[in-house]
This record gives sequence, C-alpha cells and structure tokens, in this order.
Amino acid sequence: MPDAYILGIESSCDETAAAVVRSGEEIVSNVVFSQIAMHQPYGGVVPELASREHLRAIVPVVRKALADAGQTYQSVDALAVTQGPGLAGALLVGISYAKALAFALDKPLISVNHLEGHIHAVLLEERRKGNYDLRFPVLALVVSGGHTHLYLATRQDNSWSYENIGHTRDDAAGEAFDKVAKLLGLGYPGGPIIDKLSRHGDSHAVKFPPSQLKHRDRNDQKAGRTYDGPRFDFSYSGIKTAVLRYVETHNMQGSIAGRRKALSAIPQPKLEDYLSHCDKQTLDLVASFQRALVEDLAGKTLAAARAYDVATLFITGGVAANQELRHQFEKDAAQEGLFVYFPSRPLSTDNAAMIAAAAYHKFLAGEFAPMDFSAEAGMVLK
Ligand code: KG4
Ligand code: ZN
Repeated sequence: MPDAYILGIESSCDETAAAVVRSGEEIVSNVVFSQIAMHQPYGGVVPELASREHLRAIVPVVRKALADAGQTYQSVDALAVTQGPGLAGALLVGISYAKALAFALDKPLISVNHLEGHIHAVLLEERRKGNYDLRFPVLALVVSGGHTHLYLATRQDNSWSYENIGHTRDDAAGEAFDKVAKLLGLGYPGGPIIDKLSRHGDSHAVKFPPSQLKHRDRNDQKAGRTYDGPRFDFSYSGIKTAVLRYVETHNMQGSIAGRRKALSAIPQPKLEDYLSHCDKQTLDLVASFQRALVEDLAGKTLAAARAYDVATLFITGGVAANQELRHQFEKDAAQEGLFVYFPSRPLSTDNAAMIAAAAYHKFLAGEFAPMDFSAEAGMVLK
C-alpha cells in the first residue's frame, strides 16, 4: 500500500488541533491547542467563544503541525477535517480552512466523523505498537464529554461500517463528570480531577441506585438508529441529581462555596490544593460517584459484548483516560476472554491525529469530500 502523509484538522469542540499522520500508523506531529483555560470561568464550553478561539488558533496550529513534521503545505498528500458531530460554529472554522487549503493546493480533502476519529485513535495506537492483528467483530465504546455510544464496528477492505447498539438518553458520561465537579466546586473539566481525587476516597461510602431504562428510545428511528437487535442505552442525568440531593441533605453547600472561592483564587491548582480543600465526605462522594459510573459503563458494555458475541473491545474518548475505568475494563475483559484496547491518554481526548488516521482508509478508497460539504452538528456514524 502506498505511503500517504495526511494533514488532519479538528475543531469540533474546545480543542484546535492539527496533526500529520503517515499511512494511518505513524504520528509524525500532533499539535493540540486547548481552550480549557478560557472556558474554565464559565464551568463549561461557551460555543461563541470556542468559534472565536478556533479562528485565532487555526493558522498557527496547522503551521506548527507541518513544521514539527518537517512537511510543507505542498508536501502532504491529502487533508482531512472533522465534519461533525460537534458545535456548528466551531466545526465550520476547521472545515472552511481545510477547504480553502485543499482548493488552493489542489489536494484531496477527506471529511471525517469525529466519532470515527475516536475509534481510529485505538487503531492508530495499536498500529504504532506494531499490532495489525485485530479480531473482529469489534465493539467500540465512545465515551466523552459529548457522547456515550456503543458501536459494532466491521471492516471490509478499506471500508468501515458501524452499527449503533447503544447511546445515552440524556447526559454523556463526561458531561456527568463535568456537572458533578461543577456542583462540588471542583472546576472544569471535571473528569481529570475526579479521577485523581477518587483515589483518596471510599468508593463504597455512598450508594447510588443503578440507572434503569425499560423502553426503547422513541427517537432511535428519527436519529437514523435502525438496528433492531438488543440495545444497551445509558442514562446519567439521574446520578447527577442524586449527587445534588446528597449535597442538599448533608448540608454541604457552605463548604462547597468556600472551596469554589479558594480554588478559583489559585491560577493552576494542583492535586494537593484540591485535597487540602476537600473533606472526607466530599472525597467519599466523588469516589462513589465515579465507581457507580464506571460500573454502569463497564456493565452495559460487557453485557452488549456477550449479546453480540464480539471478540474485541475498544474503549475511547475523553473518559477513556480515566484510570478506574481502564482497570475495570482490563479486569472484566480478562475474565470474559476478550481483547480490550485503549488509546494512549493524549489520543483519548480530542486531537487531530485520530482524524488523519481515520482518513487513511478513505484516502485509499478514493473517498474524497465534495467542495460543497458543510458542518453537521448532529452527524450520525454509520
Ligand atoms: O473526547 P473529549 O476530549 O471531547 C469530547 O469529544 O467531548 O472528552 C472530554 C471529556 C470531558 O467531559 C472530560 O471531563 C472527560 O472527557 N475526561 C475524563 C478524564 N479526562 C477527560 N473523564 C474521566 N476521567 C478522566 N481522566
Ligand atoms: Zn471527542
């Protein structure tokens, strides 16, 4: 197969990213400009600000990705860009820039679904390690700030297809981490700090009832989810409300307000700062919340793996960086005789290397985007 250097561009949420990947297997450069610091005071991503920051960052980020790779605009073989899902205004910045480059340079342009990018982050990671021997069928859990999806992934030559067999009915798992952290005065984003603090609390201290979904999602058909096998949907708004109720019934509001104020006065709080502002009750609550989420994600994914008799699990997306989630899946997969793969932590959260990697099979298949394609905020993966 011919070598191809693909310049990937990603701007679907709050990271402006560009990367050069060789033939879907070697990361030649990978630049991520995170806007987290700008959104932090608002406790979440502000779409208008995100678009504006992407506009500011896109040219220097792409230039750096090319320079780091020792490549030029002319030397790369193709361009790839995230089409969706994501914030429409944010996506449009990456798409407009990629289109302009492709037109000016007369290079092929490949549009990539962000969720397919997360799945290919796992494949990229394995190819980097020399592992080309994956057993199908694959079940992929894409779990991030905006998504919690289960996909059956199959491959035929250079063509990949995906069946959605589960999704969240309300909040994404990462969103639950972020909302609970905000509620407890721990800042944004919540996942990484809850991950670290949970190691200092008792995960059995607070009991959360398991989420139960009795009926099929009425929106499945409307959203293009037509697969009629068993479904494994998720729901995380209940646990967020349960944490809120716990805070209220245990009169924790005062200490939370104090922590919020103290932490916001520290420019870049470290783990010791968080720990010195968290009592045992808070650490136990955080650890129990994470435990409940991890058990739910792993429990449903494993049940789906059994129902569909899969050989391999991919766990990917920002929440896949979570240490307890990784341990749980490693343990469960070993017990069930399944292979489980994760991207490295930098490839778990949003990046453009995964977009360039996912574009490679489309490059080989000659699947190029027409110049009139646009952002698809609610793009479905098929
Ligand atoms: O994939 P990503 O960078 O962006 C989306 O596509 O959403 O994921 C970001 C999400 C945030 O909700 C963040 O809190 C969560 O991933 N996250 C984590 C961890 N690191 C990031 N959640 C749990 N544990 C972590 N270590
Ligand atoms: Zn993502």
